[in-house]
Amino acid sequence: MQLEAQDTPAQIPKTRAHLKSEAGTSTHPSRLTSAKTNSLSHMNRASDSGLNLKVLVVGGAGYIGSHTVYELIRNGHQVVVYDNLSSGHQSAVPEQAGFYLGDILDEHQLEQVLAQESASRPFDVAMHFAAKLIVPESVTQPLRYYHNNVEGLRVMLSALVAGGVRNIVFSSTAAVYGSTTGGECHEDDRTIPINPYGETKLAAERMIAWTAQAHGLNYAILRYFNVAGADTSLQIGLNKDQLTHLVPLIMQAALGQREKLEIFGRDYNTPDGTCIRDYVHVTDLAQAHVMAGEYIVKNERPLLCNLGSGRGFSVREVVEEALSMFSFRYAYAPRRCGDPAKLIANIERARHLLGWQPQRNLQTILQSDYDYRRRLISGQEPASQ
Ligand code: UFG
Repeated sequence: MQLEAQDTPAQIPKTRAHLKSEAGTSTHPSRLTSAKTNSLSHMNRASDSGLNLKVLVVGGAGYIGSHTVYELIRNGHQVVVYDNLSSGHQSAVPEQAGFYLGDILDEHQLEQVLAQESASRPFDVAMHFAAKLIVPESVTQPLRYYHNNVEGLRVMLSALVAGGVRNIVFSSTAAVYGSTTGGECHEDDRTIPINPYGETKLAAERMIAWTAQAHGLNYAILRYFNVAGADTSLQIGLNKDQLTHLVPLIMQAALGQREKLEIFGRDYNTPDGTCIRDYVHVTDLAQAHVMAGEYIVKNERPLLCNLGSGRGFSVREVVEEALSMFSFRYAYAPRRCGDPAKLIANIERARHLLGWQPQRNLQTILQSDYDYRRRLISGQEPASQ
């Protein structure tokens, strides 16, 4: 079916429930306007690359997706978000971005959005953030992870191929490496995931590579390490009902929202017995996505790289750093299922190919998450999930 391009955004429905029911009955995808005055206009600037890309961000209302949308806009790119709001907020989408309510598993709707948008200007790049990413949840609900992370990507790729979008940036994870024996993870290391989350992301990486070969796509696969923190505006951050990640749980303890932090396992094969991870600020990560999108468009070649800080901290060290800034209680608890002992990124490839270098340290990560969470508690505008 031929759809009309909508120059004028559709009227915003008042509530999230209304949004969902509208999506369920409409045969035409509606480009909705942003739900609140979440404007970045004063921060827009031309990209250093000199490119002005039109980017489809699938999952752009979620935590990492919304930070990437902010950075794309700050770099002068044109953004359209596609998100089912299952864990994101429309309020996290700035008013400069277009927004469609839709599910990654809905191939028909994705194709319609691509066709509709292409009528005015085709997408240069599509970015994928619409994945489930909680390691322990993936252990108990593997089929849910395969459905969303593998089938969801298949649907998206199929729509991109049909819609003629030639560049894709994909959110992958350090979990594809599995248990590392030595120090840093290099991109060419063996990939032997030890949990369903990592398995689904590895399957997705391979699906992209085969599809790219068959259909002439360029792709960037970005393997994230431990992402945390919030944008300096404090408009967006990680805001979920069920938090599982270390940094926000520490901050909840520091803000009196939980009695104490539990440290899962003190008998790992690490110097202090707690797991070692590589923490990277979400804004640094988001900036790497902008650079990766620009890189594949300019160079027309695939990219696979780690995104971390290149430095490992044990859980105990993160807790000590946080204790030097805030006060909270903690206790040791048994190991959590699916946790590898140590994951640290070698980030030379991202440095060399993208010129990317993380700018924010662990202290900034902790402080920005704390500030964001305190802002949420104080009843100011909710932000992204
Ligand atoms: N941890 C605790 N107590 C908590 C929460 C976490 O001790 O209350 C520990 C975990 O056991 C783990 C470390 O803190 O050792 C980090 O755990 P997170 O849940 O914060 O993050 P994960 O390492 O499990 O996973 C994250 C991402 C994955 C990614 C992985 C790569 O969610 O997508 O980092 O390093 F694959």
